[in-house]
Amino acid sequence: MEQKHANIAAVTAANLTAFCIATMQKSGLSDEDARLTAEVLVTTDTLGTFTHGTRQLRGLLKNVRDGRLSATAHEEIAAEGPAWAIVDAHYAMPPAVSYRSMELAMQKARACGIGYVGVRHSSHYGAAGFYANLAARNDMFGLSMCNVDPCMTVPGSKGRVLGTNPIAYAAPAGAERSVYLDIATSAVAATKIYAAKSLGTPIPDNWLVDEDGLPTSDYSDFPEKAVQLPMAGHKGYGLAVMVEILTAVLTGAAVMSEVNSWVIDSPEPTNEGHAFIAIDVGQIMPLGEFKGRMDGMIREIKSAPLAKGADRIYLPGEIELERRDSALAQGIDLPPDVLASLRGLAEDVGIDPAQFNLDLGI
Ligand SMILES: NC(=O)c1ccc[n+]([C@@H]2O[C@H](COP(=O)([O-])OP(=O)(O)OC[C@H]3O[C@@H](n4cnc5c(N)ncnc54)[C@H](O)[C@@H]3O)[C@@H](O)[C@H]2O)c1
Repeated sequence: MEQKHANIAAVTAANLTAFCIATMQKSGLSDEDARLTAEVLVTTDTLGTFTHGTRQLRGLLKNVRDGRLSATAHEEIAAEGPAWAIVDAHYAMPPAVSYRSMELAMQKARACGIGYVGVRHSSHYGAAGFYANLAARNDMFGLSMCNVDPCMTVPGSKGRVLGTNPIAYAAPAGAERSVYLDIATSAVAATKIYAAKSLGTPIPDNWLVDEDGLPTSDYSDFPEKAVQLPMAGHKGYGLAVMVEILTAVLTGAAVMSEVNSWVIDSPEPTNEGHAFIAIDVGQIMPLGEFKGRMDGMIREIKSAPLAKGADRIYLPGEIELERRDSALAQGIDLPPDVLASLRGLAEDVGIDPAQFNLDLGI
């Protein structure tokens, strides 16, 4: 499913990565934190999840300048057992902390078959999918989730109760591609409502409720009064609660209304929590057998009868993996809002993107 953007400049992943690393190094981050964060964000862009890729770096580095994140802090293990750990992020760069935390979950899984790592004192980690895919790339089943400041209501309520608490899983396959789902637990990501609002396009009445808690397709009061609905009603609500438990209740991170938004101007730390789970499937069943069974499952899904008008069936993650193939072969087709954010980032830190052969449409 190809995305095409107006006024775009296709950039190579390598040039974009080098630029992002330079902006972080200039902001005082270690080479490792800059490299890992750039890998998370640029990979997310190659998958076409532009809302949570390099677009977020400008805001993350503003948080560093504002003292809400630390360029020099490093996370620590606060408590651990053979199969689990609780990590205190100390507000180090969240994508780098999250990368290492999933690696720790995989290390625990290598020892025990399964590993859980919860993180507290953190902030925005980007797209949940990157970390789940990291496990799948290492022949493990991966789960990744985080809690977010409340912007979603729950059935029977009005006003903000829970965050859009994203969740992602990924599983390796054999001859077929790995499978991964990466979703917010709200009906849609807030960025989609902002986009409709700025373009003036209509939205259905199951994305938002008004200040009385009643469904509305009027986004004029969003986000001040209208709030988001969970995906699939009580089902998305129930999953968002599970994310809150594993990322915050269990880790010591801020819970629900205690979480501060990372995008507002505030001196308060966000204290978001994350959770990473890895299952070393090869310890439960020979890896080749697992992958063969995955291939069988995928092929059965893909050969299901097509609905009238449909030309193919996608597995979760397949659309993104095909976009990544094209981004790596032909360049990343960055949309205008990402280009604008990267131009702002270049200006904020005083780095000329041309130095990295990066045409941001300046
Ligand atoms: N860190 C945060 O604070 C935060 C908060 C909310 C969301 N997010 C991120 O926002 C991103 C977007 O979330 P979203 O809810 O808008 O995602 P979405 O609704 O676009 O769903 C994307 C997922 O659905 C799958 N999918 C889509 N169409 C499909 C089809 N036809 N067949 C099979 N699978 C299909 C995709 O492969 C992908 O896994 C995610 O990366 C999420 O992690 C992050």
